[in-house]
Amino acid sequence: MQSFLDIDKTDPAQLRAILDSARAMKDARAGKPKGTPDDDQPLAGHMVALIFEKPSTRTRVSFDVGVRQMGGQTMVLSGSEMQLGHGETIADTARVLSRYVDLIMIRTFEEQTLLEMAEHATVPVINGLTNASHPCQIMADVMTFEEHRGPIAGRKVVWSGDGNNVFASFAHAAKQFGFDLTFTGPETLDPDRRLDGLYRTERDPAKAVTGADLVVTDTWVSMHDPQSARERRHNQLRPYQVNRQLMAQAGTGALFMHCLPAHRDDEVTSEVMDGPASVIWDEAENRLHAQKAIMRWCLGA
Ligand code: CP
Ligand code: NVA
Repeated sequence: MQSFLDIDKTDPAQLRAILDSARAMKDARAGKPKGTPDDDQPLAGHMVALIFEKPSTRTRVSFDVGVRQMGGQTMVLSGSEMQLGHGETIADTARVLSRYVDLIMIRTFEEQTLLEMAEHATVPVINGLTNASHPCQIMADVMTFEEHRGPIAGRKVVWSGDGNNVFASFAHAAKQFGFDLTFTGPETLDPDRRLDGLYRTERDPAKAVTGADLVVTDTWVSMHDPQSARERRHNQLRPYQVNRQLMAQAGTGALFMHCLPAHRDDEVTSEVMDGPASVIWDEAENRLHAQKAIMRWCLGA
């Protein structure tokens, strides 16, 4: 029994085993209707709590469907309807939930909330996004890259935009999976200093993407960013938009990824999102398969 809190907190061999398991489960389901149970039912009899303190489409639906395909049951809880952190401490909530459910997935604001939940729960906890990271997303992204291009080790990944939580998990993955990561964005939106040494910086987006195997971006205003910062962020990030010119600079072999939701014609043009380099729908699908493998790994099931 183990928690999945961040990519840098999980051993590279274990990360690889999770992706192999995800691949095998995806292949085994090929062509079957979405509601078909998996042949294996490793979560039979298991109850999974899915806690959301922030909105979600992909994380919510993919975890819920994944648990059901593996024979388990889910309970989706919204933070605002719980006592979490206001009526009751995080630690006490963790102790109580552990008496009812076998696994907890939480999407929250502060990283500290996730860490306290994991420290005091007696069941595994999965990070479904915090202000600081989004590891489930990047497991799906590595899986997606490898489906299209083979091993990611030694390849060049370029992040263009805000040095945010999703970037942080890419930085962790660069170390664990052995790929080269370049950040291009304004100095004011540089990544968390804790990530220093995991990536290189190139302020000029055209120079940064030259020779890239993968170009990635994300929203210019994350859920934890104040709306009052919206205009300033847009002004600072506009030069880092992923558009036809930038993808042309990257070269014909480069893929494009975005964790979604995307703001069409802000951080990425519709032309790129819907164009031949884009693998965003595969990325979204692979959340399902990658997270199923993460849940099995957590439970040893
Ligand atoms: N990419 C992602 O986590 O999407 P949701 O916010 O819709 O879950
Ligand atoms: N960086 C975004 C990712 C959403 C999936 C956010 O935190 O809002």
